[in-house]
Amino acid sequence: MATGLDRAGLAFRQDYFGDPAGWAALVRLLQDIFGIDIDPLQQLGGPDASSMPFGWFDAEGELAANLSAFALPFVLNGRIVHAAGLQSGAVRPPWRGRGLYRDLTAKALDWCERRGFEAVILYTDKPSLYEPYGFRAMPLHRYVGTAPAPAIDGATAARPLLPANAEDLALLQMLLKARSPVSTTLSVTANAAMFLINTQLDADVRISFLEDCQAVIAWKMDGTGRFSLLDVVAAEIPSLAAILGGLDIASATVEVLFRPDKLGWTGAPQPFEGGTTLMLRGLGDDAPHFPAMLSPMADF
Ligand SMILES: CC(C)(COP(=O)(O)OP(=O)(O)OC[C@H]1O[C@@H](n2cnc3c(N)ncnc32)[C@H](O)[C@@H]1OP(=O)(O)O)[C@@H](O)C(=O)NCCC(=O)NCCS
Repeated sequence: MATGLDRAGLAFRQDYFGDPAGWAALVRLLQDIFGIDIDPLQQLGGPDASSMPFGWFDAEGELAANLSAFALPFVLNGRIVHAAGLQSGAVRPPWRGRGLYRDLTAKALDWCERRGFEAVILYTDKPSLYEPYGFRAMPLHRYVGTAPAPAIDGATAARPLLPANAEDLALLQMLLKARSPVSTTLSVTANAAMFLINTQLDADVRISFLEDCQAVIAWKMDGTGRFSLLDVVAAEIPSLAAILGGLDIASATVEVLFRPDKLGWTGAPQPFEGGTTLMLRGLGDDAPHFPAMLSPMADF
């Protein structure tokens, strides 16, 4: 691995989410490079409080390069792994090929090690970028099968939750704080900021509140009319039959985008081709004991 770093005209900064100009520079970088707008996060409780961005700024205050680390504890095979996540890795085209990303990766991993995180995870469409640092790909699986009969006994109808509405946001935040992991095989423990911004990034995702179960359901209907379950936020995970009953959905088949070990339902695992690869650094050879994936609502 080369070690050269050409940082002419740039200044290194870290921990700039509290500075409105630093945050705005990151919003512009991610808009320009990935075409996504993370600014609505400011109205949804703000970025994860554990976030630690690392970046190189130019003289005009634009971010030439960024990589952010944050605490991302997750459940793997029944135990909580104290992991960090890396996200928002990008370098503006004029600044590429000068070692800036290698420099930020080294700084972010050093921060993770000094903070005592036992593992680091990230999503990428360029796995070879991270293999030199000891990251390895984790295969992802969704579950597909016949829908259970909806349980409708006494169920009150679900209602849509709108995170932009202050009361709905407060309810969602309360449930996110108290949530149980959606799977014992592989799932995040909290990751509230990512859940909230992901409600805004994909217009097809529907968020419903099942009052009887005190559960928030993130779901979609795909083009073929198949029900797709993305996530369940609740202290006690309701059965898939109760979820379908509450949502009043009759779908012949169901797709679940996490291991459905708490749903009282089984489907067949199928490789999930999401366009990006989930990579893990640390934990020796540990891998999920069953086919699994992290909910798309935890995407970061
Ligand atoms: C990928 C990207 C971050 C690289 O930034 P950069 O500053 O040009 O990278 P560096 O100059 O620090 O090079 C770091 C290493 O990555 C390698 N690399 C650069 N672009 C790469 C790519 N597209 N695929 C794989 N490896 C790549 C370099 O060869 C270099 O390897 P070395 O350390 O063995 O010499 C930048 O091209 C970018 O922002 N791309 C669009 C967004 C993106 O893909 N983000 C990361 C994915 S999560």
